[in-house]
Amino acid sequence: MTSSQKPKIIVTRRLPDTVHERLSDLFEARLRPDDRPFNKQELIEAVQQADVLVPTLTDNIDKDIIEAAGPHLKLIANFGAGTDHIDRKAAHDKGILITNTPDVLTQDAADFVLALILAVPRRLVEADKLVRTGGFSGWTPTGILGQRVRGKKLGIVGMGRIGQAVARRAHAFGLGVHYHNRRPLSAPIESELGARYWDDLDAMLGTVDMVSINCPYTPQTHHLFDADRLAKMQSHGILINVSRGEIIDEAALAEALANKKIAGAGLDVYENEPKVNSGLLELPNVILTPHIASATLESRIEMGEKVMINIRAFVDGHRCPDRVLPPE
Ligand code: DGY
Repeated sequence: MTSSQKPKIIVTRRLPDTVHERLSDLFEARLRPDDRPFNKQELIEAVQQADVLVPTLTDNIDKDIIEAAGPHLKLIANFGAGTDHIDRKAAHDKGILITNTPDVLTQDAADFVLALILAVPRRLVEADKLVRTGGFSGWTPTGILGQRVRGKKLGIVGMGRIGQAVARRAHAFGLGVHYHNRRPLSAPIESELGARYWDDLDAMLGTVDMVSINCPYTPQTHHLFDADRLAKMQSHGILINVSRGEIIDEAALAEALANKKIAGAGLDVYENEPKVNSGLLELPNVILTPHIASATLESRIEMGEKVMINIRAFVDGHRCPDRVLPPE
């Protein structure tokens, strides 16, 4: 492919109309007017035909798929920030570059974490349900009592872009910010966020009132929150996860919530999406949302722009701004 030829782009899911229009202007783009995810055979056909594949987190781009790729496939320009659904090592070994769409969804995702940080302790969904089902018979001094947010301690697990954006908001809401990360932040950023670093995750869990999971999903973070770790949380503790479901052992969480070992949870992501542990579905003390933390029209359009910038840079022989490095 020379830079004067339009590269053949195959997009696996339906994207917003404005993104479709731009993709069609710039590239020979095969788009999805319907929104059914590709099955494995369709993914294999796509990697055999495309110069660039634009998948999303619902496509499991495993070693088989990478190995089946045709000689023209040189770039996987993921529509999304997380790339745990792509076998990065297999892609690297086959000389296929991966890019993603960081930054543009950070603020929306952080807003959503704050929405859950407020909604779970104040029992917002339970309260809404009570009104809709005719259970509201007037103000009562003891009805739907929640936990005060201001003055509580939030422990952020993973202090990357989204973690830091959560910290800024939490600080403004009067929460004490604590965090666990592979490395501490620089002293100026720590002091701007008023954040305290904990090298020992378990020690942090024993002192904070709420926990927000904001680290990526990797083999090291698989079931980071298992039964033992959940037991380190305080019994009035609340767990929020908008990162990836596999970081929590969902069955252990359902058990901890059912037996009031922790007080509540707000989950936007699930271990076996789109399936949700049936135990969780029964519980009033968990808010469940359908992986929408970054779902604003603005972020989806900007994610599409990032995909196009990465493809354009690649085709023109420039360094792609959002390269995802192979695992160490
Ligand atoms: C991502 O980008 O990885 C989010 O989970 C979905 O927008």
